[in-house]
This record gives sequence, C-alpha cells and structure tokens, in this order.
Amino acid sequence: MSTLNITRGPEFTAILGLGVFRGEQVVPNDDLIEPINSSDEWIQKMTGIRTRVRAEHDTSVVDMSVAAAEQALAQASLSAAEIDAVIVSTITHPHITPGAAPEVADRLGITAAAWDISAACAGYTYGISQADALVRAGSARNVLVIGSEKMSDWVDPADRSISYLLGDAAGAVVVGPAESAGIGPTIWGSDGSGAHLIRQSDDWITVRDNDDVAFPTLFQEGPSVFKWASFKMAPVALEAIAAAGLTPDDIQVFIPHQANVRIIDQLVKQIGLPEQVVVGKDITDSGNTSAASIPLAIERLMRDGAAKSGDIALQIGFGAGLVYAAQVVVLP
Ligand SMILES: CC(C)(COP(=O)(O)OP(=O)(O)OC[C@H]1O[C@@H](n2cnc3c(N)ncnc32)[C@H](O)[C@@H]1OP(=O)(O)O)[C@@H](O)C(=O)NCCC(=O)NCCS
Repeated sequence: MSTLNITRGPEFTAILGLGVFRGEQVVPNDDLIEPINSSDEWIQKMTGIRTRVRAEHDTSVVDMSVAAAEQALAQASLSAAEIDAVIVSTITHPHITPGAAPEVADRLGITAAAWDISAACAGYTYGISQADALVRAGSARNVLVIGSEKMSDWVDPADRSISYLLGDAAGAVVVGPAESAGIGPTIWGSDGSGAHLIRQSDDWITVRDNDDVAFPTLFQEGPSVFKWASFKMAPVALEAIAAAGLTPDDIQVFIPHQANVRIIDQLVKQIGLPEQVVVGKDITDSGNTSAASIPLAIERLMRDGAAKSGDIALQIGFGAGLVYAAQVVVLP
C-alpha cells in the first residue's frame, strides 16, 4: 500500500517583526459622555480609559491591516514573496464574504493562503497559535498574523454598555522559524454558554426581515464579563506559564487584552506576577481595540523602552464567544 508524504517544519518558532496602525483620531472621554449620561471621571475610574483612537470614516479594516503589516514585514526583514499565509483576525470587517485577508494579501503583493478568523478579543492570540502550528508542521514558513478592528463602525453612541470603551486599530506580526523557542504552547478554550454576554444587538436576518430593527451594534453585559475576565482568566494564564516550563517569577512582561485597567490589575494579582513585571496598559490611550489590543500594547511598551526585544512576555486574549487563549512569547 502506498503512503503519503507529509510535511515537517522547524522545531521552534518566534515572532520576527511587529507593526501597528492606530486610528487617526484621538477621542477624549468628554466627546462621548453626553449621549450615555456619563463623565470623564466615571470612565477613568471604572475603566482607566482617558482617550481611545478611532479611524477616519474612509479608513477600513483592510487599510489598517496593510499599514500594520508593512511595518511588521519591514521589521522582520522579509519580502511579500517570503510570506506563506496571511491570517486576519477581525469581527468588524463589513463583509460576511469575502474575508479581509485575501484583499490585505493582494495589497501587500502576496498570493499565498489568506483567511479571516473570528475570535473577537482573543483573535490575536488565536492567530499566534495557528501560525505557530502551521510553521512547525511545515505548512508555511512565515505567517503574517494581523488583528484589525474598526469597532467604531459598530457602536451606538447612546449605548452605555460598551460603546465608549472601543477603539480602532490594527496590529501585525510575522511568525517564522527560530533557533530556540519563541512561542510557548497555547492554552485556549471557549464557553459558548456565555455567548449572549457580548454580542451584536440583532442578527442580519432579523434586521433584513424587520423594518423597525435598527442597524446592529455591539452590546455587552458588563458586570458578568468583568467577573468572568477577572476570575476565570488567571488559571488559564497560569497554565500557559506552566506549559512553557516557567513560573510566574520568570515573566518579565504581561500583555493581557486591553479591556479594562481594573481587570488587568486583578489578573496581575491573581496570577501572582512579580512586583517588577512590566504591564501593558495601552488601553488608557487607545481604548479596547479587540483583536488589535495586544500587539498595540506590546508596541507601546517597546517604544517607551519599558520592554525590550528578547523579554519573556505572557499574553492572554479573551472576549466575545466567550473565547480565550494565552501563551508565553519572546518579544521580537
Ligand atoms: C463596563 C463596566 C466598566 C461597567 O462597570 P460596572 O461597575 O460593572 O457597571 P454596572 O453596570 O454594574 O453599573 C454600576 C453603576 O454605574 C452606572 N453606569 C454603568 N455604565 C455607565 C456609564 N457608561 N457611565 C456612567 N455610569 C454608568 C450604572 O448605572 C450603575 O449605577 P448605580 O450604581 O447608580 O445603579 C464594567 O462592567 C466592565 O469593564 N466590564 C468588562 C468589560 C469588558 O472588558 N468588555 C470587553 C471584554 S472583551
């Protein structure tokens, strides 16, 4: 009986380059508080957010992805021809089909495999896991992973539950072969029983069939999401640290999804991260940019000199689904 050939890739992978695009407008709390009967003080105290970045009307998920990816390719010193797969994580690309990724690839001069993933605020860490596996299996040598969101297209300015939290941005990395392990095992999962906690207000069929149903926007049950993120994500992070063969004391940089500064502080405490750990808190200026938030926070820490290439970083994404994924990585 004949057997099939299979591919095998390198033993180790790493993040080889990083790029970001932040929405062109910086929107302070004061610009958003009137329709939600809120205040700058309340938003800062309850979320840590001072401003969020939002994209211009004509700037798309694809535009932001391309801008971030160009930087990531340049930092990795790789050309378009050396990329074998493009993964775009987004929940805000305005087409059910085609996905954003093939268009992003085309704009970058890439004709390799390209697809979208929908894993909300865990999308970047889901993408890293996929890219790591693809490279180690020999299915791709270098993979572009992009988290890109234009959240502002999907907010109701009068919605008090989530609208004021959200920003627009893209973050991109290249994952490729490495001499030693730069991406640890991913610990991931889902809890679909919480699907109703963060969601689109109405589905597209309901919108189509009912003249009185408004254009769908995002909505969340904030207190339930807060509890889930603050208390259920620490064990996931601890498992990712252990799976990498490390302890919390080995973690130099912590980059959780940027959902709320109070959630971030709670996670630091519950994971038992050392006092000197550098913590990503880009949410204060960029808001919650969903799949883009982790690469954005990494870029900010590295630009500020708080984190550097080679640092051991724990990253964890979590959000609508509910879905989550964590892994330890070496910063590019
Ligand atoms: C959204 C969030 C900041 C709201 O904070 P909270 O303390 O849970 O708010 P609650 O809904 O329990 O309301 C508490 C009080 O604040 C008020 N409030 C709620 N939203 C408000 C707003 N946007 N502005 C001003 N006041 C607000 C409520 O009316 C309530 O007032 P009361 O005590 O007088 O009745 C918080 O739940 C949160 O961050 N959740 C997680 C969000 C998240 O991370 N989502 C994305 C995950 S990927």
